[in-house]
Amino acid sequence: MTSPASNPIIGQSACTQALRQLIKTIAASSSTALVTGESGTGKELVAQALHLQGPRAEGRFVPINCGAIPRELIESELFGHRKGTFTGAVADRVGRFELAHGGTLFLDEIGDLPMDMQVKLLRVLQERCILPVGASREVPVDVRVVAATHRNLEEEVQAGRFREDLYYRINVLPIRTTPLRERPGDLPELLGFYARKHAMPGNKPIGFAPDMLDMLAGYGWPGNVRELSNLVDRFSTLFPGQTLTCQLVPSCMLPSGLVALQTQRLGREQVAPWQIHQPARVEPAVVMAALQADPAAPAGDRPAFDPVLHAMEIASAVHSPEAQLAVPVPKPAASASNDEINAVEEAIFLAQGIQPLPPEGISLKQHLVNIERGLIEQALSRTEGNVSRTAKLLQLQRTTLIEKINKYDLRASS
Ligand SMILES: Nc1ncnc2c1ncn2[C@@H]1O[C@H](COP(=O)(O)OP(=O)(O)OP(=O)(O)O)[C@@H](O)[C@H]1O
Ligand SMILES: [Mg+2]
Repeated sequence: MTSPASNPIIGQSACTQALRQLIKTIAASSSTALVTGESGTGKELVAQALHLQGPRAEGRFVPINCGAIPRELIESELFGHRKGTFTGAVADRVGRFELAHGGTLFLDEIGDLPMDMQVKLLRVLQERCILPVGASREVPVDVRVVAATHRNLEEEVQAGRFREDLYYRINVLPIRTTPLRERPGDLPELLGFYARKHAMPGNKPIGFAPDMLDMLAGYGWPGNVRELSNLVDRFSTLFPGQTLTCQLVPSCMLPSGLVALQTQRLGREQVAPWQIHQPARVEPAVVMAALQADPAAPAGDRPAFDPVLHAMEIASAVHSPEAQLAVPVPKPAASASNDEINAVEEAIFLAQGIQPLPPEGISLKQHLVNIERGLIEQALSRTEGNVSRTAKLLQLQRTTLIEKINKYDLRASS
């Protein structure tokens, strides 16, 4: 509740540059500012910047989320209370206004403030004095108020849910944060910033190939910068140090809006997991969290559940041996039949290169021979028959590889 971290406001789009300039200009003022914008667009970041760049930076930045505090406690939270005023008031309590004396009070989600509290807040903003619950004397406070809401307060006023007089009182310096989809010019810098922030220890930050950047620029980003940060965090865990292309990322790791764009670009068959050449180390918990991503998306936006494709995608994303052993079978849609569930399990095994054990059993020795032969064939084909490069790819001695090539009667270039 003291000084906020001085996180930079990232982005080179015209509106973000204008936002930084506006903050610089009005940080010096003590007038009330109202920050509006969609969720995740940086309203709190703006409030922090106003505090840190202004003359009150030495004082406290005190946030309070008006929508998250039970209505019977809001008054005491904001203005404090005197001991014995109500059950549980065992001592005097200083409210957030007093805590923010000399600093900034950030009234987040002010649109959620109950009507009776709106009246009291208006009075405090006009008088610059608070009356703690149960107190007989008012206490003067010197506080800069920054309010924020994701609601359209003019509409709330029209609907009778927000007092018009309070709206005008707090809307002295209006600041609007722009949705990310309206400023695609910010994407490269934001992606780079969060790639560095979320880079896995010992790995360089992930990169974004031009086709991936292009795809991300066409996405609607309903969760704005918060969603972008979370997505980059996910990619950084799944593909540490890699450069992401549209083909690399399995669709089950993307929000539904991006799956649609990916499918448009590549066609459904090409999004298949066998396009992933570089297996990633994945924590099973991360995979399961990723599978549950985007639960808020309307059902109509989600692609139909295809158990086999789904399982193949998961299996590819968790291609490391450790993850393969531990990854639980994904839960298909509630309506999936037993057959579909079996298909999911089978597809996971197949995608991992593991043949499901048939009821009659299997010759393990022959099976391992087949796997070895298959991998040598693949490696030879990738290196166009070059023995040295194939040996390197399979981490074998050159002589050992030649023995195996002869044993399986495979062809290498001389
Ligand atoms: N321009 C930006 N540059 C860097 N980071 C940003 C930017 N905008 C937002 N963020 C980051 O995105 C996250 C969400 O921002 P913030 O909490 O300020 O959004 P908000 O508008 O208050 O969202 P909500 O309405 O959901 O509370 C934070 O981690 C913040 O640091
Ligand atoms: Mg916020």
